[in-house]
Amino acid sequence: MPKRRALSIPSRAALRAEPLRTERTRLTPIDASDGPELWEVIEGSREHLERWLPWVPFNNTPEASRRYANACASDWDAGRAVRFGIRDRETDALLGVVGLDSCVHLHLSCELGYWLRQDAAGRGLMTEAAGACVRFAFARVGVHRIRCAAATGNHASLGVIGRLGFKPEGIARQAEFVASRWVDHAVFSKLSTD
Ligand SMILES: CC(C)(COP(=O)(O)OP(=O)(O)OC[C@H]1O[C@@H](n2cnc3c(N)ncnc32)[C@H](O)[C@@H]1OP(=O)(O)O)[C@@H](O)C(=O)NCCC(=O)NCCS
Repeated sequence: MPKRRALSIPSRAALRAEPLRTERTRLTPIDASDGPELWEVIEGSREHLERWLPWVPFNNTPEASRRYANACASDWDAGRAVRFGIRDRETDALLGVVGLDSCVHLHLSCELGYWLRQDAAGRGLMTEAAGACVRFAFARVGVHRIRCAAATGNHASLGVIGRLGFKPEGIARQAEFVASRWVDHAVFSKLSTD
């Protein structure tokens, strides 16, 4: 029998007590208390987000944001996904979300996903926050492989992926139906051994 492998995800309580920090941001696990603020941020950036994120039209009531926030907490506790709210270190305002989705314990793998509110974009904040999330994945969770994909026309996201040093793997054709059109995805990965 091969040795059983599993990711080692620190508890939400541990991360709440000691959030990940970057120069300008603080990353804390999303939980029910974030629901109302998530709703405000998504409402305020709906057009910016819905161009590339297929879930945005479904997050269309405060109740939907509350359910998402609750799901983040239960996904974290069940080891399915690790999603952080990105907060401004000075004002504590919620700027966006970054996380590791589709955690597969057997293969020590996961998928990086992220978004920023519109008025937080263009300042390098996602490169900073996602970089901390990637370091957390490799150093604390024991991830071996992180996949990341972005629509071939999503130049802002492709810029983040490039700055984080992910390596290209290929194109997934018509991978998502988003904003009433099919988009191809450019697929990338980063290994703990890269
Ligand atoms: C994808 C997304 C998070 C990228 O945000 P972003 O702000 O462009 O990315 P960064 O935070 O890394 O900032 C990079 C930009 O800030 C600029 N910048 C300023 N200071 C910087 C710094 N210290 N370090 C790096 N970049 C800096 C860069 O030049 C770049 O601007 P440019 O694209 O005009 O050249 C954002 O566009 C978004 O939320 N989009 C909608 C949702 C989405 O597409 N999610 C991803 C799906 S795959």
